[in-house]
Amino acid sequence: MKKIKIGAVGLGRLGYQHAENIAFKIPGAELVALCDKDEVKLNKTADAWGIPNRYTDYEDMITNQALDAVVISSPSSLHTTQIAQALDAGLHVFSEKPLGTNLEECKIAEEAVERHPELVFMLGFMRRYDPSYAYAREKIRNGDIGNVVLFRGYSQDPESCIEGAIAYAGHSGGQFIDMAVHDIDLARWMVDSEPITIHAIGGCYAHQEFGAFKDGDNVAALMQMENDAMVFLFAGRTAPHGYNVETEIIGTKATLRIASVPQKNMVEILDHHGVRQECSQDFLERFEQAYLAEINEFIKCIHDHRKPEVTVYDGTKTTEIAYQCKKAFETNELIRM
Ligand SMILES: NC(=O)c1ccc[n+]([C@@H]2O[C@H](COP(=O)([O-])OP(=O)(O)OC[C@H]3O[C@@H](n4cnc5c(N)ncnc54)[C@H](O)[C@@H]3O)[C@@H](O)[C@H]2O)c1
Repeated sequence: MKKIKIGAVGLGRLGYQHAENIAFKIPGAELVALCDKDEVKLNKTADAWGIPNRYTDYEDMITNQALDAVVISSPSSLHTTQIAQALDAGLHVFSEKPLGTNLEECKIAEEAVERHPELVFMLGFMRRYDPSYAYAREKIRNGDIGNVVLFRGYSQDPESCIEGAIAYAGHSGGQFIDMAVHDIDLARWMVDSEPITIHAIGGCYAHQEFGAFKDGDNVAALMQMENDAMVFLFAGRTAPHGYNVETEIIGTKATLRIASVPQKNMVEILDHHGVRQECSQDFLERFEQAYLAEINEFIKCIHDHRKPEVTVYDGTKTTEIAYQCKKAFETNELIRM
C-alpha cells in the first residue's frame, strides 16, 4: 500500500506528538515535511528524525509536490486559513480543534471543504476515538441506558500548567472555545441533539489574568437540548491533582461514567499518605491511544476514499455553541439558539 506523505505544521505541545506518531507509529503514513515558525525547534526536531523538508512558512510547505496531506496543529486562529490553503493546493487535511475561533473563520473552512469533495477533511475531536467513549456511545445507541436525561462533562487542566494557559489565553478563543469544545462535541455526539437554551457562569477564582480576556479560570454552562436532555459542562484550569476529564451520562435505565476517578493506571499505592491512585497529568497521557487512532482513521479514509465521521459542520456547530456559551458567560443572559 502506498504511504500517504504528510507535512505537519505546528510543533508545539500537541503538534510534536502528532508529528512523532506519524513519523514512527502510523504504518500507512510517512512524515516528509515539517513546518514551524520557530526555526530552532523546527531544525532540532527535523534533525533528530531525519526529515529533509523543513519550512518556517506554511505557504511554502504546501507547494511541495511530494505531499499528499497536511496535519495542522498551529494556533487555533490560523486553522481555517491553513485548511483552505491546503485543500486548494490539492492536499487532504487533518486539523486540530477548534475548527475556528468564530463563525466567520469556520465558514472559510466549510467553503473550502465544499469546493473539494474529492479530498478528505478531518477535525481532531479525538475523544470520539478513545475506546471508553466509543464503547459508551455504542451503549447509548443500542438503547442500553434508555432515554438520555443528563450529560455531565468535566474538563480540568492541572494547576501545574497554569503559566502556559495564561500565556495562551490571548489567542485561545477562551475557555469554552479552547477547552469546552471537547465536551460540547461529546454532548452532541452522545445525546444526539442540539442545544436550544444556554446559561453560563464562572469566574477567576485563582488567576485574575483571565479576566483581561473576559474569561474565567473556571467556567460552567447548562444547556437544554432539543430532545429535552440536560447538558452540564465544567471547564477549569486549576485542578490541583492533575488532568481531570470525567463524563457521566444519566439515562432512564442506566448511568454511564467514564473516568470518574482520573486514574493514571490500575496501580494502587499504599504508603504513609494512606491508599491512593495516581492521576493522569496531561492530555497527551490520558488520550495517547485516541491521538493515534484518529490519525490512523484519517490515513485509512484517504486510502479507502471515504469521509470521516467528524465533519466540518460538526466543527462549525461546536464553535457556534462554544461561542454562545462565551456570550452567555460575558453577559450573564440566557441564550436562546
Ligand atoms: N485535541 C486536543 O486535545 C488538543 C490539545 C492541545 C492543543 N490542541 C490544539 O492544537 C493546537 C496547538 O496547540 P498547542 O497546545 O500544541 O500549541 P503550542 O503553542 O504549544 O504550539 C503551537 C506551535 O505552532 C507554532 N506556530 C505558531 N504560529 C505559526 C505559524 N504561523 N506557522 C507555523 N508555525 C506556527 C509555534 O511556534 C508552536 O511551535 C491548538 O489549536 C489547540 O487548540 C488540541
